[in-house]
Amino acid sequence: MAARVPQAFIDDLLERTDLVELVQRHVPLKKSGNEFSACCPFHSEKTPSFFVSPKKQFYHCFGCGAHGTAISFLMEHENLSFPEAVAQLAEWAGVEVPREVGGTDVEPIARLLEALEEAARFYTDQLRLAPEAIDYLKRRGIDGNTARDFALGWAPAGTDLLARALGTRFDADTLVAAGLVARRDDGRLRDRFRARIVFPIRDRRGRVTGFGGRLIQPGEPKYLNSPESAVFHKSQTIYGLFEARKAETRLGELVVTEGYMDVVGLARAGFRRAVACMGTALTRSHLDLLFRQVPRLILCFDGDEAGRRAAWRALEQALPVVQGVREIRVLFLPEGDDPDSLVLREGLDGWQRRLAASSVLSETFVRLLAERYALDTAEGRSQCAHAAVTLISTVTDPLFRTQLCDLIAERTQTPRNQIEAMLTRPGAETPSHPATVRADRPEVGGSEGRKAPNQLWSALLARIIQLPQEQWAEPGIERLVATGGRAPDILRAILERIEANPGISTARLLEQFRSEAYFPRLMALASSPLQDEDPKLSRRIALDSAQRLFQEHCRNRIRALSSMTGEQLNQQAIDELRRLQSLLAQGEGLRHPGD
Ligand code: UTP
Ligand code: MN
Repeated sequence: MAARVPQAFIDDLLERTDLVELVQRHVPLKKSGNEFSACCPFHSEKTPSFFVSPKKQFYHCFGCGAHGTAISFLMEHENLSFPEAVAQLAEWAGVEVPREVGGTDVEPIARLLEALEEAARFYTDQLRLAPEAIDYLKRRGIDGNTARDFALGWAPAGTDLLARALGTRFDADTLVAAGLVARRDDGRLRDRFRARIVFPIRDRRGRVTGFGGRLIQPGEPKYLNSPESAVFHKSQTIYGLFEARKAETRLGELVVTEGYMDVVGLARAGFRRAVACMGTALTRSHLDLLFRQVPRLILCFDGDEAGRRAAWRALEQALPVVQGVREIRVLFLPEGDDPDSLVLREGLDGWQRRLAASSVLSETFVRLLAERYALDTAEGRSQCAHAAVTLISTVTDPLFRTQLCDLIAERTQTPRNQIEAMLTRPGAETPSHPATVRADRPEVGGSEGRKAPNQLWSALLARIIQLPQEQWAEPGIERLVATGGRAPDILRAILERIEANPGISTARLLEQFRSEAYFPRLMALASSPLQDEDPKLSRRIALDSAQRLFQEHCRNRIRALSSMTGEQLNQQAIDELRRLQSLLAQGEGLRHPGD
């Protein structure tokens, strides 16, 4: 554990930082109303959909959904860790980063990166001295240029050759922390990679953060990866991304494969837009990361059962992230093939033809469902419709949602409005991916406005987070906070921070919650566009949402109390019931807060 940076320092640092100036160092910004805009640095586009708000100190891209504070910007754009981003801001602000007492400084990140770089050099040197390794690569069609582009190397078979080669310059602790060597029971060191071809894994800036290693003889495990470390995080790492960005300046799409050899083999054949997620399942964070690079992804899956399972999992991850210009296509490969074997056999042309024949996500959606359910029976069709609704409910793009409903209505011979009704029924699966929650605007004072509580919470929290300078100490909100529970507790925490820091910006407010599990949700709420014309209207919508949530709470509690019988229904419960009923009656009369 590295020493913690005190929260108050981070808060102060953000106060001294200007996000507009910071972004300006990397992307030319143009004034656009109260905000600044640019072509998004996180995905390729021709018209600007990236906006920076000086007031909120927050950025947001309407194209790819990237958003965050000055700290997030440095982490995402410069690929820095949180402490590195803070250190960077501190340097610009000309202040020293204090360390919280009690924290111990472990291996500084820079030192780990140096050791990894040095190891990569050791491995490439070794490759030149190892004819059996060169032979193996040649047999697999890899030429010298490709090996050099990917800095392929050879970890020799000895026990501790790397440990000894690097031992003069690095402490054993550093080498262990970098995942390069392990300490044996007797205290001696053993190299992690032995008798393997090594694939250095590089971050966006080309720094080696870890390795993958393949045996050249049959054996187990065939591939070995670096362990998680302070600089290597599998869930946030994509193999081949640095190399692809380096090879093609204007990347429009990326092909996501399963293995190191697929990426390297495709590059050797002249196709330099392939990446891999290193044997782990494709996750939401992989997809988010990739969509920050390009608007289009093509996911490859084996034609076998395992490939189909992987495709299902990927579909579940992918549906919620599709929005706006983002496109996902899927390529099913023939059974027993992977991109590497295909391109060896069919050449670059064959590979390009297969890519061109890949299916759009909606087609894959229908295809996977149709394979799983017997659509020639009424039972199969209704099961299919249920499964489809659950999946569609995770889709955040309203237009894409409509399209999928149409497709499923047709395939399952279900009336379109019934599919929609299933989607909106309370209790129907609600989107489980808060990263793209929309702060929908509830109809103010409308009588039909029975929005789902989720939406009301989003509407309320989004406005408080985006307008922390407004006056939020209102009886209607305090009443809601007092009901207790997960969301009210989060609301309470937010209000406390606002009260303690008059004039706080959205970014400063958000950064106080970075270590909370719900931080991504708050970030998403900060970036969800409000259609309200002015803060007064925003306030009114927020207060109205709070009012409705409170009423919802009362109704639920009344329902629970009314179903009590006999002993449970003591005087206390009766009093509570009366009190709630009168509160609710008052509330109904207070339909238009602020009027
Ligand atoms: P595959 O077994 O499909 O290998 O693993 P491959 O990519 O076709 O490799 P070759 O062609 O046999 O050399 C795909 C990916 O899964 C991970 C690796 O990241 C590999 O690239 N993997 C596989 C492991 O991490 N460990 C293993 O033992 C096997
Ligand atoms: Mn293979």
